[in-house]
Amino acid sequence: MFKSKIAPSLLSCDFSKLKDEIKAVEKAGADLLHLDVMDGHFVPNLTIGPFIVEAIRRCTDLPLDAHLMIQYPDRYIKEFILAGANMVSFHVEVSINPKATIELIQKSKAKAGLALNPDTPISTIKDFLPLIDYVLVMSVHPGFAGQTFIESSLEKIIDLKKYRTVRKLSFEIEVDGGIKAANIGKTAKAGANIFVAGSGIFKTKDYGKTILQMRRDVNL
Ligand code: DX5
Ligand code: ZN
Repeated sequence: MFKSKIAPSLLSCDFSKLKDEIKAVEKAGADLLHLDVMDGHFVPNLTIGPFIVEAIRRCTDLPLDAHLMIQYPDRYIKEFILAGANMVSFHVEVSINPKATIELIQKSKAKAGLALNPDTPISTIKDFLPLIDYVLVMSVHPGFAGQTFIESSLEKIIDLKKYRTVRKLSFEIEVDGGIKAANIGKTAKAGANIFVAGSGIFKTKDYGKTILQMRRDVNL
């Protein structure tokens, strides 16, 4: 059994009070913090770099999960880990040599994840599933918070879970995009155990209540 973990995505928080927001989700029961790194190239949006990750690191002891939506992940991985990232995922769509990137992350003592866009099939990452610590299944097209969950992601999660069982592998399954208290349960049933939620947490009034409800639905 894999432990269920709720991962608020800071992209949807109020950055004018970043530390307060981090403390609030920490108190509300977050298991880790999801950090969306965008380069304006792989995705049409620009967000945070290692400098901000380092500032976030000084605000919390929660594990930091860096989701690199950038064209050249290898160039920045060490910097993100030095800044305090404990988990680093990169997109298979841009990777020239995923095995080398996975090794780079793991050698630096972080967990390595491979991220898949909604239109990218599992076949593109099968060779790497025995090596990685987690798969990040995108359930929206990467680039922005607040989009609608793409239902076909559920099949991908189900297939990944089946594949993991048959091959006796141990990677975790993270789902990211459009997750709310109302739909988190079905992603858990499909087989995900790390749940990223941006607007689904930060656009609600009471983070504690929202995370509690999410946790209940995940464990049903
Ligand atoms: C999208 C990001 C997501 C996003 C999730 O590119 O990878 O992590 O912040 O936000 P919501 O939960 O609002 O879809
Ligand atoms: Zn993300």
